[in-house]
Amino acid sequence: MNEIDSLFEEVPRKRVGFFPTPIEKLGNISQKYDQNIYIKRDDLTGPGFGGNKIRKLEFIVADALEKGATHMITYGGFQTNHGRQMVSACRRFGLEPILFLRGTEKPEKFRGNLHLDKIMDAEIHYIPVGLDEEKEAMERATAEAEERIEELESEGHKCYDCPIGGFNVSGCLGFIWGFKELKDQLEEHSIDLDYIVHASGSGGTLTGLMMGEKISNYDVEILPFGVSKNEGKESEISKMSRKIADYLGIEEHISEEEVKIDYEHFGEGYCIPSQESTNAIKELAREEGIILGPTYTAKAMAGLFDYIEKNKIPQNSDILFWHTGGTPTIFAERNIVGKLYD
Ligand SMILES: Cc1ncc(COP(=O)(O)O)c(C=O)c1O
Repeated sequence: MNEIDSLFEEVPRKRVGFFPTPIEKLGNISQKYDQNIYIKRDDLTGPGFGGNKIRKLEFIVADALEKGATHMITYGGFQTNHGRQMVSACRRFGLEPILFLRGTEKPEKFRGNLHLDKIMDAEIHYIPVGLDEEKEAMERATAEAEERIEELESEGHKCYDCPIGGFNVSGCLGFIWGFKELKDQLEEHSIDLDYIVHASGSGGTLTGLMMGEKISNYDVEILPFGVSKNEGKESEISKMSRKIADYLGIEEHISEEEVKIDYEHFGEGYCIPSQESTNAIKELAREEGIILGPTYTAKAMAGLFDYIEKNKIPQNSDILFWHTGGTPTIFAERNIVGKLYD
């Protein structure tokens, strides 16, 4: 039994998705770029069209049920992947899902993730905001959620307040376990990885992967591509890693200086496609038949292509691209999807 296995023996977890997710080699892309590029298919984790949050939700739902929750609340933009996956996980375990969603205007049509949220009948609260009011929007969402929690709890219900992106200790545990899952697969296929590339938002995926790497003593360079500027994320990740260490009773943790998120490849902003991200979607679809999501994975893939083209990654490296999902956003509004064909 390895160290992560034994640390997780007592950690509550509910089965939500299909794990391990497959790893495959991107043969055509690898040949084109003189690299060995593998992809880990967390777009195939299962319920409600899957994605990386299902990993986190296995631990978050278990935590919520242990705490006697009847309702689960979370936050995001109108096209939140995390929110949609939370709704599907809640539906499996009899929890009532509530979403507080912000966006520039209340959508007239329900597309992509919102369409799925509606089908799964989530309780949805819309927070309309101006383009530059991100902080105010979050404050308003939190205030409105607090009111709703008070109301529900006065009726005898119990609410679990799930942070945006599932960025709490339970959520990050999902990606420590994810690292262990990957390491087992690498051993099985005799792959010695040089890089792991992924899209970063709340930072839970990165925190879990970095902690997993430390705990299991596997040496690999993790390249997180931020999908919007996230001031102070390095310190939040470091603090979260200490909470995880306390929870698991271990010494390993992440220092602020160790967190190196690339913020150069998200273009004009969150949910705004760039020429590079649109090209990345087309390239992966046309070379490999795999679909990326415009908001996250397309931007990380664009970052990876740029690193390869600028020789920041040496030829013939073993690279794993962690496909964190978000594919339903390919069916969202045109301004989010970008122009993929004439
Ligand atoms: C498709 C996709 N990829 C990556 C991420 C980023 O994961 P994290 O929030 O753990 O940084 C998200 C977060 O919502 C996502 O939806």
